[in-house]
Amino acid sequence: MTVTGTLALSVFTAVLGSLEFGYNIGVINAPQKIIEAEYNATWIHRYGENIPSGTLTSLWSLSVAIFSIGGMLSSFSVGIVSEWLGRRKAMLINNLFAFIGGSLMGLSKLCRSFEMMILGRFIIGAFCGLSSGLTPMYVGEIAPTSLRGALGTLHQLAIVTGILLAQILGLESLLGSAELWPVLLGLTVVPTVLQMALLPFCPESPRFLYIVRCQEHQAKRGLRRLTGRQEVGDMLSEMKEEKRRMDMERKVSILELFRSPTHRQPMIIAIMLQLSQQLSGVNAIFYYSTSIFIKAGVQSPVYATIGAGVVNCAFTVVSLFLIERMGRRTLHMLGLAGMCVCAIVMTIALALLENVPWMSYICMLAIFGFVAFFEVGPGPIPWFFVAELFSQGPRPAAMAVAGCSNWTANFIIGMGFQYVANVTGPYVFLIFAVLLLFFLVFTFFHVPETRGKTFDQIASNFHSSMRRVSLDMGLNMDTDREIEKDSTELDYLGDTSTH
Ligand SMILES: *[C@@H]1O[C@H](CO)[C@@H](O)[C@H](O)[C@H]1NC(C)=O
Repeated sequence: MTVTGTLALSVFTAVLGSLEFGYNIGVINAPQKIIEAEYNATWIHRYGENIPSGTLTSLWSLSVAIFSIGGMLSSFSVGIVSEWLGRRKAMLINNLFAFIGGSLMGLSKLCRSFEMMILGRFIIGAFCGLSSGLTPMYVGEIAPTSLRGALGTLHQLAIVTGILLAQILGLESLLGSAELWPVLLGLTVVPTVLQMALLPFCPESPRFLYIVRCQEHQAKRGLRRLTGRQEVGDMLSEMKEEKRRMDMERKVSILELFRSPTHRQPMIIAIMLQLSQQLSGVNAIFYYSTSIFIKAGVQSPVYATIGAGVVNCAFTVVSLFLIERMGRRTLHMLGLAGMCVCAIVMTIALALLENVPWMSYICMLAIFGFVAFFEVGPGPIPWFFVAELFSQGPRPAAMAVAGCSNWTANFIIGMGFQYVANVTGPYVFLIFAVLLLFFLVFTFFHVPETRGKTFDQIASNFHSSMRRVSLDMGLNMDTDREIEKDSTELDYLGDTSTH
């Protein structure tokens, strides 16, 4: 299978959205102090007095976290928008959000308005929510089967590259200065414009055209462009098979997803995996690492942040090679366990810092380790694991719920971390260590391995192994009782659970 120019161009154009997603995660980290000073100056300009420090913390936390509210709301509509407009047009129109959001943030200093900044973060968050669903969907659909995994991971790679880019450009000597920070935030419109200019040259997803819109002719034309071959009958017949299967399966709504006992278990697992990604505390690092490094007494905190970004990129590539070899479950547990250990080391190092100055290096290493282990498992895995747990019918609804819970947890961390850190001091990462341990135990007992299995096998494995485990754990008793009604094979085990 060769990669044609059209395929390369289309994938590149699509992951520009992921790049922007990452950029906006990383961008508000380095200039925190400068923008806070700007808020203070605005406050003095308006009210003639210094900003109360509580108000400043609230305004800043809101600026950071409202991004995830935007993402939370829009990620819910990925399914509807992508069916209604088509993948390509949805991405095209989504860019309007990025354009408006980027402009608002870029102009907020000029207009002396932190409201514009906060609104801009909200709108850019909405862009990212849609983009985090549309990009993997489009790339997955246009990629030939043999390259689907490799091209799919480019989404995560573009995200972490975006984070790194934002961290480098955020250096005070580049754009992270008191004068230039609006440029740093406004720069997000550059990939937007580029994507808008390139999208018209990318074909709409043939899979979408054929399976959803039933436009066989256009789908064929798209396939010819993407593969560079005249003869595309084999791929078309593969899509026919998928369409046939999909037509047989009923679409499942979000409510049904929770009511139906067969879907509830995998849904709980999908949500827990998303939560394990966000509540691991990794975004506390990405949003606030610079101020953590300052507290830890690291000499050049901004370079340490960039170091974390480099580690992040490097280990995403490592995970890319490991994932098909070691399996999802193993890597996820390895990642969680490693993060847990690093969080504990970090806590000890921060606590001892006053008496033992060289602890700042240990702290830095622990943060690097934390990020590295994140990218080994909890970073990339939850995104595609959801798609693997569900078949064609319930998948869109499951993706929406999973995406929404991810963004909700993201919001809680973005909003709450600063407050909790102010109260608990160095012990804040102990909370994450406890959460990580919990998710590790959960993964060990409840998450099945999906590597190299068909959807059918995953679904049937679910039934038997899940049940036995939840008996051992004494968890989900009421869920079990309902599943019992549906199945016959494990009646005996089911019975004991009710006694
Ligand atoms: C706000 O700025 C004033 C004057 O520059 C300064 O004295 C004050 O400490 C600042 N307040 C906060 C909360 O940073």
